[in-house]
Amino acid sequence: MGGNLVSPVFIGRREELASLAGLLEQAKAKEPAFALIGGEAGIGKTRLARELAALADGHGYCVLTGQCVELGGEGLPLAPLVDTLRTLARTLPPGELADVLGPAAPALSRLLPELAGAAPAPPAAVVTMASEDMSKAQLLEHVLGTFDRLSGLHPVLLVVEDLHWADRSTLDLIAFLFRSLRQSRVMIAVTYRSDELHRRHPLRPLLTSWERDRSINGIGLARFSREEVAAQLSAILGQRPAPAMTDTVFDRSGGNAYLVEELAGAAAAGGDPADLPPSLADVLLSRVDGLTDGAQRLLRTASVAGRAVPDRLLAEVAGLDEDELLRALRETIDSHLLVVDPSGHGYAFRHALTRDAVYEDMLPGERVRLHAAYAAALDRDPALGGGDADASALAYHWYAALDLPRALSATTAAAARAAAAGAPAEALRLLERALEIWPRVADATERTGMDRVDVSRLAASAAYQYGALDRARSLLADALAELARSAGENNERRALLLERYAVVQRDHSEPAQAVVTLQRALSLLPPDQVTRAHAVVLAAMAGSQMRADDMMNCAQTAERAIEAARAVGARDTEADASITLGGARSYLGSADAGLQALRAGLRLALDLGEHGTAGDLATIALRAYINLSDVLELIGQHAEAAQTAAEGIELASRVGMTRTLGSYLIGNRAESLLRMGQLDEADELTAQGLAAFPEGVFSATLHQFRAEIGGMRGQYDDAAASIRAMKRLITDTIDIQFTQTLRYSTGLIALGTGDLAAARQAVTEGLPDMTNSWGARYAWPLLWLGLRIEADDATRHRDRREPVPAELTERCALLAGLAAQVQTPAPSWEAYRELAAAERARADGTVDPEVWRAAVGAWQRAAAEPYPLAYALLRLAETLTAAGDLDEAASAVRESHALACRLGAAPIVAEAEALAQRARLSLPAGETAGAGDAAGSVASKPADELARFGLTDREREVLVLVAAGRSNPEIAKALFISAKTASVHVSNILAKLGVSGRVEAAAVAHRLGVSA
Ligand SMILES: Nc1ncnc2c1ncn2[C@@H]1O[C@H](COP(=O)(O)OP(=O)(O)OP(=O)(O)O)[C@@H](O)[C@H]1O
Ligand SMILES: [Mg+2]
Repeated sequence: MGGNLVSPVFIGRREELASLAGLLEQAKAKEPAFALIGGEAGIGKTRLARELAALADGHGYCVLTGQCVELGGEGLPLAPLVDTLRTLARTLPPGELADVLGPAAPALSRLLPELAGAAPAPPAAVVTMASEDMSKAQLLEHVLGTFDRLSGLHPVLLVVEDLHWADRSTLDLIAFLFRSLRQSRVMIAVTYRSDELHRRHPLRPLLTSWERDRSINGIGLARFSREEVAAQLSAILGQRPAPAMTDTVFDRSGGNAYLVEELAGAAAAGGDPADLPPSLADVLLSRVDGLTDGAQRLLRTASVAGRAVPDRLLAEVAGLDEDELLRALRETIDSHLLVVDPSGHGYAFRHALTRDAVYEDMLPGERVRLHAAYAAALDRDPALGGGDADASALAYHWYAALDLPRALSATTAAAARAAAAGAPAEALRLLERALEIWPRVADATERTGMDRVDVSRLAASAAYQYGALDRARSLLADALAELARSAGENNERRALLLERYAVVQRDHSEPAQAVVTLQRALSLLPPDQVTRAHAVVLAAMAGSQMRADDMMNCAQTAERAIEAARAVGARDTEADASITLGGARSYLGSADAGLQALRAGLRLALDLGEHGTAGDLATIALRAYINLSDVLELIGQHAEAAQTAAEGIELASRVGMTRTLGSYLIGNRAESLLRMGQLDEADELTAQGLAAFPEGVFSATLHQFRAEIGGMRGQYDDAAASIRAMKRLITDTIDIQFTQTLRYSTGLIALGTGDLAAARQAVTEGLPDMTNSWGARYAWPLLWLGLRIEADDATRHRDRREPVPAELTERCALLAGLAAQVQTPAPSWEAYRELAAAERARADGTVDPEVWRAAVGAWQRAAAEPYPLAYALLRLAETLTAAGDLDEAASAVRESHALACRLGAAPIVAEAEALAQRARLSLPAGETAGAGDAAGSVASKPADELARFGLTDREREVLVLVAAGRSNPEIAKALFISAKTASVHVSNILAKLGVSGRVEAAAVAHRLGVSA
């Protein structure tokens, strides 16, 4: 048959195409756009996506297409990603390709080896830094980075076809890109068959969540109307069809574009569409039935390979001589059943629906025989498969051929590849299949080179990588049970499995149980000799003890682990244990010894990276940077801490871990910058870190510092938003590095906005965690804040000439008692102790400049942290004023004001100015000029300390008049408002200041320097 069944004209779909074109525009403006094109099989999703691609291409977009491949109901791991990368590799000029791949090149070349040559060789250390199995998070980060870089050069359209066939890893990747692409010129359109989604289909929950997301656009395709069918038929036939034919085709096809084509094909071959069989599959097969035997056989053979098949593989399996083969191919292509694959090296069914119909129609025996033939061919010559997909394809064909022994070894091999490529979900699925086949294969161990225990262990490791901790746990339990059944000496294996089990427990927030498990593991090992297992178990135990806050035992265990690791030459374990030891020692107060161990661990990990030892060295080295910068910060070496964190950030970006462990390093560097008073830099750095959209705790750690910065600067709305984000992210964590800092920032904001009850509440929640030995560094800021709140409250009572309530005094005593108990993690932290003592004196109403002098001195000497120093200077100035020493007060307030201006710490600037005004202390005129915007604007409104009480501008004006002793009618007259309104303002002011009458309000106003 000549001609073509496909209409050269694109029919209908105007609205759909217009909205897709709109999304392309949106993406071009750096707002990533996402479209879900859904509809039944054959309705025209691919055709619409092609129109979109042509449009994009015409506008200079880089168009990438990835196809999900069904393999016996299981998607091929990451097939669309591999397609996309292949297109990139083939279309981008080499220099550009190298830029686009950047640090992702080594990781992505595991998926597509041809990428390795395209990119410049990265430093050896980086290649080997990656562990044997890439984590899912690393892969995702690399893909995201690649799209970001590519979209810097061209706007990008990514089309992912047939998502209903996608493997788990591809679904995760798409969901991740939808979530994480921001501000890059990328549009993603996916297609899926809506009639393929059975109740438990993995795409369903994703679609449901995407439907709720307003940034994701669902486009459902409907069947063609009669007019559209007529238009399609005219375009195919090159002439208007007779109305009767249109009616028949419309009736039979129901407006499905693909069926219209097939019916047109049947009619063109001489059939009468009205005579066609009733079922869809039979309609499709009716066109096959007309072919010669050879062509039919060829189609059946091709259908077993899937939608597409490489030409050499097809030739091999079809078993036809060359002439026969060519004749059969010609026939199937002429009748528009097969088409030449766009790659030019293979054939594909014109449509998947026909492939399915042919495959389903075969007799089971023939199917099994053909699967076996494919498997045997691929086994003999893997190159026949055309590359990437071999391992999974082989596993699939042997399985479908019911050759379980061969299927088993192919399945474990495919699992290893999937794990290495960053697709742990597929590795897990394959290994679980291997476990299923296992009992049916007598020589399973010989075939796979492992025993069943190993398979369970590997499956557990894939589950762990994937983040399925429960599954990992049960698979490990299974491995342990299996091991118990097997004969022979196996204590060491048992111990190593228990070690893995303990790691899962530890990550499940059960560190104490993990320690118990590891003790059991250790007891299985021979006491009179040292093995690698000793080192591994001890290192894990030290790690769990640290999580369980048992620092003494942690340090001891880590030392034993290092000794064992050295004895057996397990250098990665040695590095790991050194880092744990360093952390424990530092928290136990020996920072020097701690730093030494940390540096040794880091050096070892970096060295091993350079010398090509496998293992999870990147994670180890990053842990070292995290702990090292943390300890340096702890001992007040802010600058060195910031520098160390920067080196770690650099490594994280090279190995694809910026969004995970790298976030901790960004947080650490931000913290050091913040302590040094470089608030702008810390603000910028955390904003950048968040722009990469890390998830969960990795994001929380960045919000944490933004909340604190906002609190310091008086930008309370922003700070409160960061707090909310953080709360959402950490949900029920009990990790005090999050919970205590969250309470501190919450309290700081509440205090700043005048909500003393909420501020106090935040501190109270933190009390139980203060005596924890890790906790000291988080306890101190909170203790200070707690006493500061009480002192502020006591001052309010005194302003109102009220007695200070007994509960307040009791709370002070409680906090002071804690302050006496909590250790200082390093000498510089003594400054907090001074600060706490000075606040207590303030709460007691003692006017003693000496305590504030001591606090100022401590912050000047020890820690060089401008923020608490500015604060202490302010209070010193206040006390000196009360004591009548105006000269020294003036110089203290000036210094405080200058520091606070430099920091942009608006609340301190405001208080300093208010103090200067009421005590008639002069501030240098030009002082605020150099300050940031926040401080500048506050400086122009000296009474802004009132912001703490939440007074509006109008209420301030009223307060000034109240302080001047005016009555409501007088106020009304002065402000051109009614007397009633004035009285409403006055009662609001009284409520906000927490005073009971106008006289008290006037007292507060005078103290704060508010006057006409
Ligand atoms: N708007 C259209 N104009 C002209 N022809 C169309 C149109 N839509 C679809 N077709 C034709 O109908 C056939 C089936 O369409 P297509 O392959 O796009 O369906 P699909 O929805 O992607 O199906 P599947 O779910 O099986 O992938 C194709 O040959 C296509 O060219
Ligand atoms: Mg399609």
